[in-house]
Amino acid sequence: MALKIDPRAYGFHPEKCTGLPDGPPSPGWVLKSRFLLLKEIGSGGQSQVFKAMDLVARKAGLSTAIVAIKLMVAGEDVDPDFISLMHREARRLRDLVHPNIVRVYDMDRTGPVHFMVMEFLEGRTLSALLRESPERKLPPNHVERLVQDIGSALSFAHGKGIVHSDLKPGNIFLESSGAVKLIDFNIACPIARSIRTSEEDTLRILIRTGAITPAYASPQRLQGAEPCEADDVFSFALLTYLMLAGVRPFGPKNALEALEANATPGRINSVNDAQWRTICSGLALNDHDRTTTVREFVDGFSSANKQSLGRAWLPSWFRPV
Ligand SMILES: Nc1ncnc2c1ncn2[C@@H]1O[C@H](COP(=O)(O)OP(=O)(O)O)[C@@H](O)[C@H]1O
Ligand SMILES: [Mg+2]
Repeated sequence: MALKIDPRAYGFHPEKCTGLPDGPPSPGWVLKSRFLLLKEIGSGGQSQVFKAMDLVARKAGLSTAIVAIKLMVAGEDVDPDFISLMHREARRLRDLVHPNIVRVYDMDRTGPVHFMVMEFLEGRTLSALLRESPERKLPPNHVERLVQDIGSALSFAHGKGIVHSDLKPGNIFLESSGAVKLIDFNIACPIARSIRTSEEDTLRILIRTGAITPAYASPQRLQGAEPCEADDVFSFALLTYLMLAGVRPFGPKNALEALEANATPGRINSVNDAQWRTICSGLALNDHDRTTTVREFVDGFSSANKQSLGRAWLPSWFRPV
């Protein structure tokens, strides 16, 4: 299907195009004479996300001509080794082809602009959905489906040796078609580490640059450890709690403060005992006590549900004591 959009309507005239304009990236910019930025759709710690048009795909009449581009402008103070590392990490995301993970097509650079080309998703994030939901929570059966889909994406990534490391409602995208997609794998970590200064500690830099969201990070991440699967398990359990309860398990405390205060999460009434044990095990502040894999967490959460439904259905004289 040919697209009706005319790049000239956005101020793009290929014959006049020489390099990048001054100022921050904005609609009308063309990256590598190919990607025309149409509209800014998101911005965060150190990046901007644009809806964009792939002019080559458009010329070929491909339906994938509309893409999303996430870009970062790296200053001169950023270590080139870390830039290479970021590109390498991003390229690994191209192998993550899974129905619940946003497709990453490529990572490239033009001058100081580093950009990732992705499929364009139509819909809204889980944080937007939660904001609009009564008591900011979702019905348990809805949560169970989300846990299945997000868990499937995370397990797949872990199987390929990739940790998400910034799992939170803003990084879960709910497409208008109903599909659930994980976005924003944290490839910005290398940049965050590269701009460390002697006055500022690692954690503060990771937070300032958006590489860590303290409210969802495990105590180990907050203590500066390298990201690993167990951190995703913790954030996933925290996310599950939030979707069911409408509040975070340790209130305003982050996981490190919760550890110091010996805090425990309040019981959620809409889940059965086995599901509750699964959530608590995922939320263990000490990583030695935590569920080790996402698969284990998902199985615990859903098989527990089936077990409870099965038992509720059985006649009382048949139930084991
Ligand atoms: N592939 C995409 N398609 C459509 N919108 C997207 C896409 N990727 C990101 N966005 C939008 O941009 C926002 C920020 O993207 P994200 O990758 O989470 O960047 P950040 O690192 O700034 O959090 C998202 O919350 C979402 O609204
Ligand atoms: Mg994000």
